[in-house]
Amino acid sequence: MDFGTFYGIGVGPGDPELLTVKAIEALKKIDVLIAPKTEKKSDSVALSIAQPYLKPTVEIVYQTFPMVKDFAEETEIFESNKAEILSLLRDGKNVGFATLGDPMFYSTYIYIFRLLEPCGVKIVTIPGVPAFLAIAAQIGRPLAYGNDILTIIPATAELAAIENFLDKADATVLMKVYKNFPEVVDALKIHGMIDDAVLVSRCGLDDEKIITDIAAHKNETLNYLSTILTRKKS
Ligand SMILES: C[S@@+](CC[C@H](N)C(=O)[O-])C[C@H]1O[C@@H](n2cnc3c(N)ncnc32)[C@H](O)[C@@H]1O
Repeated sequence: MDFGTFYGIGVGPGDPELLTVKAIEALKKIDVLIAPKTEKKSDSVALSIAQPYLKPTVEIVYQTFPMVKDFAEETEIFESNKAEILSLLRDGKNVGFATLGDPMFYSTYIYIFRLLEPCGVKIVTIPGVPAFLAIAAQIGRPLAYGNDILTIIPATAELAAIENFLDKADATVLMKVYKNFPEVVDALKIHGMIDDAVLVSRCGLDDEKIITDIAAHKNETLNYLSTILTRKKS
């Protein structure tokens, strides 16, 4: 029996109409959908976005992925997820892996892609609309133009590194701001980027939130799906 194909499918950040035609076509033809979720949560946002496009007979396989800073620390769980996917592919099934936003951009898919790549299986990666671009459109804020240099900072990085980049940055996207939001707010104040900052949580989902006075919300607990767009005043 021929091996199935592995599809990494970007499903966009939330709005079920923000999938590409290619993503929808892949979702329609897969036999199994891998729905990634974190240890803490039982639901998969990527699955709920993909669901309307799946054929009724599709098999949903939940795989838990730890939020890892260092991929090398959690090899066992990644290896067992990889083995499960390989066995499905060996059975001739076409397997999709739904990814929020774009699969090649700060995504769990990257770890699985790297593990499967040397195994000789056919992999098709389908790009998706990344959250920060959907947010720019949603709040009507051009992100970068002319000679602007756009800086994208994961706020889970060391604070010293964040400060270093903010010092040089103009147009800026801060991802993963849920963890150290108060420190991020302080850093944006220091670097003259607080007034222009807009935070969007769960963009495109039913409970989307847009916050413009982010300093006033400094001590709130943020949803994991939160992103800040900002720039220095020129
Ligand atoms: C692991 S990264 C995934 C990025 C994703 N692959 C993309 O292309 O946008 C998770 C971070 O993406 C951002 N994010 C993803 N979906 C979002 C949404 N619907 N609204 C706001 N931010 C979102 C947040 O910064 C979140 O902490």
